[in-house]
Amino acid sequence: MVLHLLVILLSCQIQAVGAQMKLSPEKLTVLRGGEARFTCAPNTEWTVMVWLLNGKAVLTISKEHGVLRSINTTVTAENKKGDSWVFVLKSTERHNQGRVTCDLQNIDRKTATLLVQEKGSVTLFGDDRLAFKGHTVLFECQAAGWYPKPSLQWEVGDRKVSQGEYNISSEESGKSLFTVSSNLSVTATKSSHVCCLASVSALPTPLKSSVRLTVVSEVVQDCTVPLAVTASSLCSSAAHPALHLHCPLLPTKETSKIKPAGSHMDRPIGGWEKPGCWGDRGEGQPGILY
Ligand SMILES: *[C@@H]1O[C@H](CO)[C@@H](O)[C@H](O)[C@H]1NC(C)=O
Ligand SMILES: *[C@@H]1O[C@H](CO)[C@@H](O)[C@H](O)[C@H]1NC(C)=O
Ligand SMILES: *[C@@H]1O[C@H](CO)[C@@H](O)[C@H](O)[C@H]1NC(C)=O
Repeated sequence: MVLHLLVILLSCQIQAVGAQMKLSPEKLTVLRGGEARFTCAPNTEWTVMVWLLNGKAVLTISKEHGVLRSINTTVTAENKKGDSWVFVLKSTERHNQGRVTCDLQNIDRKTATLLVQEKGSVTLFGDDRLAFKGHTVLFECQAAGWYPKPSLQWEVGDRKVSQGEYNISSEESGKSLFTVSSNLSVTATKSSHVCCLASVSALPTPLKSSVRLTVVSEVVQDCTVPLAVTASSLCSSAAHPALHLHCPLLPTKETSKIKPAGSHMDRPIGGWEKPGCWGDRGEGQPGILY
């Protein structure tokens, strides 16, 4: 007990002696091209502050004269209240990843970590699909050109698909960029959007690619009984307005000949026959089905 107290007291004392400056944040993650800011707050008298990127001096600040020398226009500094200086790297590059050091000459230096991520693209391949209830539909998604390896997530309607339901494969391409691929098979139960989302931690919202899956319960030959087309259910992060169909869709003669070909069923052959009815999309053109 006494020993514990002694250790705590000692460590407090060590901290008090070492607390001559503070560099924050200790770790920062930004997207390439984004701005990185670090604040160095000296807690003692100083004359020269030097900022280093991966060991190379890029900015010098004099307490008396302010910023003295900056090697690039992308590197600047702003004076904050009191003695603090904010180091600003305006447009981060991948090679800036690493150590950011604030060096109070002849006093102390502190180092923080800068991580620079790359936003790639995400593509859910293929067109909107049409499938008969109970059949399996395969979706294929690729997230290309990311750093580090992006997390990939599927959503069907507003349901997040659990990771056990799909496989992911990834490969690293040149310039240490990652491409992640995933296939998802969905049993057609309800019309919905199928979304593939890719993200890295610095991205505020994931990138998304989606296609529409329309589920038909059965095909009726005489075209008088409406097909059961459920209202569209959008993925939770989708920005589209909800789509309401005002009246039932009737299959054309050709549509009714579609065979449930399993995984890849594209748009209905011959299209839809819609007597004066289309989705509730404002200026939306008649005949376009989402
Ligand atoms: C400064 O500019 C040089 C040449 O344009 C470049 O190679 C270097 O990476 C830049 N440094 C920083 C910190 O952006
Ligand atoms: C994932 O891959 C394993 C082995 O290749 C396979 O057995 C399994 O069915 C796959 N799962 C999915 C959801 O594709
Ligand atoms: C997805 O399916 C395609 C075509 O069937 C195949 O070439 C690819 O390897 C699959 N990818 C994964 C991650 O299972």
